[in-house]
Amino acid sequence: MTELLGPRQVERFHSIRGEELQRFIQKIVEKDRENENVNLEKGLMKLTNNIVCRIAMSTSCSEEEDEAERCKELVEGSIELTGKMVIVYLLGPLKKVGRWVFMKELKDISRRIDELLEKILKEHEERAKKDGGSLPVRNTYFSRWHALDYGNAHQPSKLVKETLRLYPLGPVISRASREDSKIGGFDIPKETVVLINLYSMMRDPEIWDNPDEFKLERLLVSHKETDKENHSLGYVPFGGGRRMCPGSHLALTISHITIASMVQCFDWKVSGGDGDGGKVNIEAKSSMIMCLAHPIVCLPEVHYNPFVA
Ligand code: HEM
Repeated sequence: MTELLGPRQVERFHSIRGEELQRFIQKIVEKDRENENVNLEKGLMKLTNNIVCRIAMSTSCSEEEDEAERCKELVEGSIELTGKMVIVYLLGPLKKVGRWVFMKELKDISRRIDELLEKILKEHEERAKKDGGSLPVRNTYFSRWHALDYGNAHQPSKLVKETLRLYPLGPVISRASREDSKIGGFDIPKETVVLINLYSMMRDPEIWDNPDEFKLERLLVSHKETDKENHSLGYVPFGGGRRMCPGSHLALTISHITIASMVQCFDWKVSGGDGDGGKVNIEAKSSMIMCLAHPIVCLPEVHYNPFVA
């Protein structure tokens, strides 16, 4: 998994990112033309799903509008369930009962994930038969996205890093001890499930000045250095050690180019939607993963159209 999503593979597939980004930006240009709102959560989820599917399986998610939504529900559902299973382990002798209670949910979510993967692979086979897997024509703006002058090329990178420090996607991770050990003066017997609170670590006043403040200049090292340099500072949005997120490089790369293109190509006006009218509502959903309770809905206005020569 680390090899599949590592920097070398991510670099190898930069054309896939360019094509999917092109498709994403093209849809927003159309929305501007039709004076329609964009639900950023849905659009960004579809973009990420397509890039990950094409890198991992050489196929993109179905064109059906609700497919990205289903992927999101399944990912959220399985993370939710992982959280419940962790709590079940904390029940000590009652954990067998807890496991039995959640078994039906576990089987149901595994079946739905299998069905979705099956469908994606079938579509891929059919498409490959039909068009021999030919790729869409590329626009030079997107194939050269990395060479763009965004004014300040480090701005998206700093923005993403500081956002992940304050709002980590996975605020709590778990580990099981393989042997008796001692952490911070506490004895941890073998096979104990330990919950690690990444959210608190990244807001620890002993590590960070004014930890609750959003400061762009805080994390200045390049994202290639993130693991090495920032770990010692308690910067752990991707976890740590051998089970650290293998998708960190891909996630940061996609975030940077997407934000940079969205800022360069459009002016954004936040619409009412589920938020509170004209303002982004950053209230988080109560869940094991930290995501927005109200999706951001915006009216885009083209500022620079990359499709017009
Ligand atoms: C901003 C985006 C992302 C964040 C904040 C994030 C965060 C995390 C965290 C905190 C963990 C647990 C690590 C630990 O236990 O030490 C994790 C695990 C994982 N992530 Fe991510 N992740 C992101 C994007 C991605 C992407 C794009 C992929 C794949 C395409 C991915 C694939 C995985 C996998 C496979 C694991 C399980 C690793 C294991 O258990 O060995 N992640 N992620």
